[in-house]
Amino acid sequence: MNTSETVQAECRGLGFSRLAESRWSPRGYDGRPIADDTLRVIFEAARSAQSSYNEQPWRFLVAAPGSPLRAELEACLDAGNAFAAGAWILGLAAAKRTFSKDGRTNRHAAFDTGAACQMLALQAFASGLGTRFMAGFDGARAAALCPADCEPIAFFAIGHPSAEALEKKPARRRKALGELVSGQVWAAV
Ligand SMILES: Cc1cc2nc3c(=O)[nH]c(=O)nc-3n(C[C@H](O)[C@H](O)[C@H](O)COP(=O)(O)O)c2cc1C
Repeated sequence: MNTSETVQAECRGLGFSRLAESRWSPRGYDGRPIADDTLRVIFEAARSAQSSYNEQPWRFLVAAPGSPLRAELEACLDAGNAFAAGAWILGLAAAKRTFSKDGRTNRHAAFDTGAACQMLALQAFASGLGTRFMAGFDGARAAALCPADCEPIAFFAIGHPSAEALEKKPARRRKALGELVSGQVWAAV
């Protein structure tokens, strides 16, 4: 079994809960290409996300290896995120700060962009691929690649996880549910 078959076998036939529980973010990719049809399904999933006033404020700038844009995107990343160069797709998720219909500030643009990114991540995983989002990037450099009213939110890698990344898959660590969900007013900290 190659690495993507391993990932596919991991999530084949999973219901949503198992898919959400199983998704993880590899920190290494083997450079293999992803078919355009598969990428389309992944970005269609992102397109289907809900958003405040249905504004759909997310914008994705994406590049496969070898293009000048790809070099620009890679140059934005912090050294610690150099692993992303091995991913077939390197992307920048940006959020349009204003509503298209009246120019008002959209306070939920980053929230909605995150929702679209999560759809992208889950669909990619269901397609046997890995994703990792990255906050470690040069904000000014990334902003220069976006339209004036868009804010860079996160970079992301989409690719076939490397054998090494699969071997080093970390155990999932999450806060206890009681820390995250409350049925009473939160005590002041
Ligand atoms: C907005 C955001 C920014 C992140 N930034 C980085 C980053 O700069 N570098 C990195 O290696 N991982 C980054 N991560 C990945 C997280 O560390 C990872 O999602 C988290 O540890 C949970 O692991 P899991 O996705 O495998 O469940 C980021 C994730 C998100 C959602």
